[in-house]
Amino acid sequence: MTITQTVPSRIKTTDPLHEPWQLTEAEREVFRQRSRESRQARLAAMSGAGQPPVHEINHPRFDPLALMPSKPNGSLGALSLFSGGGGLDLGFERAGFGHLGAWEILEDAAQTLRAARPSWDVHGGADGDVRGVDWTRFRGNAAVVHGGPPCQPFSHAGKQRGEDDPRDMWPEFVRAVLEVQPDAFVAENVAALGTARFSDYVDRTIVRPLGKHYTLQRLVMQACDYGVPQSRRRFVFVGFKSPAIARRWAAPAPTHRPPGSMDDGLPETMGMREALGLPDIGADAVCPTIRSALTGPRHTTSILNSVSAQRIFESLQVWPNGVAPTREAARAFVAKNGHFRLSVPDVALLQGFPASWRFAGAVYMRLGQIGNAVAPPVAYAVACSVADALRR
Ligand SMILES: C[S@@+](CC[C@H](N)C(=O)[O-])C[C@H]1O[C@@H](n2cnc3c(N)ncnc32)[C@H](O)[C@@H]1O
Repeated sequence: MTITQTVPSRIKTTDPLHEPWQLTEAEREVFRQRSRESRQARLAAMSGAGQPPVHEINHPRFDPLALMPSKPNGSLGALSLFSGGGGLDLGFERAGFGHLGAWEILEDAAQTLRAARPSWDVHGGADGDVRGVDWTRFRGNAAVVHGGPPCQPFSHAGKQRGEDDPRDMWPEFVRAVLEVQPDAFVAENVAALGTARFSDYVDRTIVRPLGKHYTLQRLVMQACDYGVPQSRRRFVFVGFKSPAIARRWAAPAPTHRPPGSMDDGLPETMGMREALGLPDIGADAVCPTIRSALTGPRHTTSILNSVSAQRIFESLQVWPNGVAPTREAARAFVAKNGHFRLSVPDVALLQGFPASWRFAGAVYMRLGQIGNAVAPPVAYAVACSVADALRR
């Protein structure tokens, strides 16, 4: 019998929820070697000793703000839990909600929100931990509570330990709704939460406690149905306190169709190359699902999620690993296979964030916030549907 012993990562994480992969010393050494080579190549490129650039700095054609016309703000108050880098927050704001407060345990993510919206009441770090908050003080003020509890306990990319994973925060979201008693709530997670594997869990932890007071609706939203140049399915719960309001709610209908699909009267979502403003190579498609969460053997700067995603990136001549901090740095650091290297602003755009929304922290942390987010135009679509029902 062979005994393989795993060893802890030597890299300190700034994410209290990060679970490094369980790897043997030999496996870790492979990743270390890869990082060393990549760092050396990057340093050489930055000092001008690398290969000459193979692409120009790109000028994106996709404007996420055009998908989210701003609605008059203020009359509907919202509380944001597990705010991350602010995907849901931005969508709700554009749909006319005024945020009464945002809670996020990661200090870098809280910093993103503060920089984007200095007037918001952002609670970050230990102060942003929802577990310590008495929500009853918001009763009567907040029309909506929204949040995306961490998806790692349910994600196909993880171990799917559900409630046995200490990162499962659904009970905290449920507690907040029961304490605040808002008119409506919206909660989001990976599509896997809606599968049979978690149906008992969902029933016990979410549906039964909230269903006594709210009419619940479930939907799966695909980002490219809302004009976002990415394939990304998310499970969404919407709940209304008033049965009459629940009856007049209409689920957000798709506003776009995927590139290359049959014309059904809706505008076509841009493919990844078109969205990023890359030259026409005769092929385009939406970006594969951007990797969620701050996972991986080390602090990864790859957005690759699967082998099938790798094939799509290859066919579109886009390099999804070693994402560069800026477009200038991406151009200077030529990818091994000569394909277009992505930058943080490109990845943010493919997730539906406008260029004005800047992420704080190291590159892996910025990518983690982006990959964890609800694409803002998707958040906007569901937020508009809720606002319409509440205001009518
Ligand atoms: C799926 S992400 C949310 C993404 C966000 N809804 C968006 O659209 O950008 C979940 C977030 O919950 C945060 N989180 C996890 N545990 C928390 C806790 N106890 N209190 C506050 N935030 C927490 C994580 O740091 C992560 O940013």
